[in-house]
Amino acid sequence: MPLPELEQTIFETILGRRSVRSYALRKVEDGVLKTLLEAAVWAPTAMHKEPWGFVIVQNKDLLQNLSTIAKPLFLEELRKTGTREDILKNTAGNLFYDAGTLIIICARANGQMPIADCWMAAENLMLAACAMNLGSCVIASALPAMCLPDVKVTLGIPPEFTAVAPIIVGYPRTEASPSSRKAPLILKSIPQ
Ligand SMILES: Cc1cc2nc3c(=O)[nH]c(=O)nc-3n(C[C@H](O)[C@H](O)[C@H](O)COP(=O)(O)O)c2cc1C
Repeated sequence: MPLPELEQTIFETILGRRSVRSYALRKVEDGVLKTLLEAAVWAPTAMHKEPWGFVIVQNKDLLQNLSTIAKPLFLEELRKTGTREDILKNTAGNLFYDAGTLIIICARANGQMPIADCWMAAENLMLAACAMNLGSCVIASALPAMCLPDVKVTLGIPPEFTAVAPIIVGYPRTEASPSSRKAPLILKSIPQ
């Protein structure tokens, strides 16, 4: 894979990655997408199964339709679990925040630990995106819609695959809001 020229250390990339929810119109170039997918497939994979498949959606109308289908299904899930529905307040227009590119990492159902593998791939992809000055954000709220048989057909997800990690990618319009983390919770440290 031709490696992009980067100036960040791995820690700068890890700490600098933010969930980006505001995107410029600039399209993510095909070569950049190829590099992101290459980064994704170099993730660790249980029993070396590589159970992933990728769907790339850049059609604005399809993304809007998908958002329209996904919102009520997600709201239903929020109600079932008693979660506050105002979690959706930032997505008045579109669950995908009007990003131009959605990459859906899908798992082949018969892998060893396909879901874990796909999330590993997801983090690789998002860190690579950050290192290339792209923003990204997981949009798990769209997952219930991606399980609907007709949506799977529209997205080209074969029956033996399941959508696991939908990730929007694009050039940030504004700087993402700062985030924070609690200190690591060490349950126990067992010395030699
Ligand atoms: C499994 C998972 C699902 C997520 N789903 C959504 C989502 O549906 N919509 C959204 O705006 N952000 C979503 N996020 C992003 C989180 O809100 C975000 O990672 C968290 O607030 C921490 O912010 P940071 O990524 O900027 O550090 C999701 C993140 C993960 C790991």
